[in-house]
Amino acid sequence: MTEYTVEFVGTGETIEVSDTETILSKCIEEGIAQEYSCRVGMCLACSAEIVEGDVTQPAARGLTDEEAENYALTCMARPQSDLKLDRGKYPPSIEDESAATTETAAADDD
Ligand code: FES
Repeated sequence: MTEYTVEFVGTGETIEVSDTETILSKCIEEGIAQEYSCRVGMCLACSAEIVEGDVTQPAARGLTDEEAENYALTCMARPQSDLKLDRGKYPPSIEDESAATTETAAADDD
């Protein structure tokens, strides 16, 4: 078992996470306010942008392979190096869906 340092950019929060536990489970244990919902890698509520470092997350089914290179689903992700993560950042595909929904809602008001 190897321990890695996980730093959350912009918050000053840092935790030590082993390569055998998920980042989310350690956040919950340490009282870090990481959002989550399904805890099975599907909803993306626990997403964070990987600013620096590597994770393994083979069960992160909510992400495409390309997205998984830049985003971690913290409920599934285990560190493979020291990390810097930006919590509450979602893959562009999710951001695009939000924008489309907003545009549709605005169009319905006309
Ligand atoms: S909590 Fe749903 S994907 Fe992590």
